[in-house]
Amino acid sequence: MANENHRFRWINFNPIAASIDDGRDVIQGLNQSQKTLPCRYLYDDRGSELFEQITDLPEYYPTRTEQAILEQYALEIAELTGVCELVELGSGSSRKTHVLLEAYSQFSDRLHYCPIDISAGILKTTALELLNRYPNLKLCGLAGTYEQALAQLPPPELENRMLIFLGSTLGNLNDKECNKFLTQIQQALQPGEFFLLGVDLQKPIQTIEAAYNDAQGITAEFNLNILRHLNHRFDGDFDIDLFEHFAFYNQEQHQIEMHLRSLVTQTVFLKALNYRFIINAGETIHTEISRKFDLSKLVDNLASHAFKPLQIRTDPQDWFGLILCQCQCAGDDCP
Ligand code: AVI
Repeated sequence: MANENHRFRWINFNPIAASIDDGRDVIQGLNQSQKTLPCRYLYDDRGSELFEQITDLPEYYPTRTEQAILEQYALEIAELTGVCELVELGSGSSRKTHVLLEAYSQFSDRLHYCPIDISAGILKTTALELLNRYPNLKLCGLAGTYEQALAQLPPPELENRMLIFLGSTLGNLNDKECNKFLTQIQQALQPGEFFLLGVDLQKPIQTIEAAYNDAQGITAEFNLNILRHLNHRFDGDFDIDLFEHFAFYNQEQHQIEMHLRSLVTQTVFLKALNYRFIINAGETIHTEISRKFDLSKLVDNLASHAFKPLQIRTDPQDWFGLILCQCQCAGDDCP
């Protein structure tokens, strides 16, 4: 469905219908010897709200560090790319995008922004705010999954385009998912178009573990909320008080692993899935990975997907990286 007016249009890919909501992925994960849940279930309305709170926590360095890098280098990025349409994956509240829009508005009075988010509600709220703030802005909101939006990106209305993926969300994908995702990006872009990627980097373990075990317990609440979400979605009887948040840094895999540990041996029933399982005292359900990257290995991986790095910037402590690259191939020419 498309909706248009002078400066704002939006395309709704009907993400709810497209998402695998029959719970098969839940049963599959809970049937494994290390029980797991797909991390996408962390994000119902409450989960998204809690994640917004996490980004402001003193221990959670990624958001403010990336913001600072963007503030320092946004003009340089705009200069390098020239006029281009900004397409942002997982835009959420588009907080960091302001920095880029400010920079691009200094070079040109033609501003185009396409936020992509699973939530049409967030897109509309963000759109209204941005349209009020930037009188020259044209905005096309795409409500859908990354897959849907990348497969059906509308042609750019400006001479070039930059796809933006910030916040180190790439780190929530395992190797296989990451490569599949980079291939989808590569296929969505034309040669010469840009990709701006923000990633969290390897650093002392204490700093990383503190970011996922904050003193106020917001991350714990965020993690436990996945059980509330499943209760609501699949008529389940998870007793939230009988689980505890557990997050640690896996040094071999270079990733935070977030788990929920059962405090007692218990049976859980998800009525809508007609699925019952037993979890032992001390056993965990793995809910999320958050990978911390080695910049040079990541750049090599980007190169293997035909992305040529043009500019790599980090903060003074090298905690977070921002990579601007350019797509080198199209369609069948791609490796
Ligand atoms: C969304 N994503 C990049 C966050 C992260 O740091 O991996 C999600 C998160 N999980 C716990 N705290 C934040």
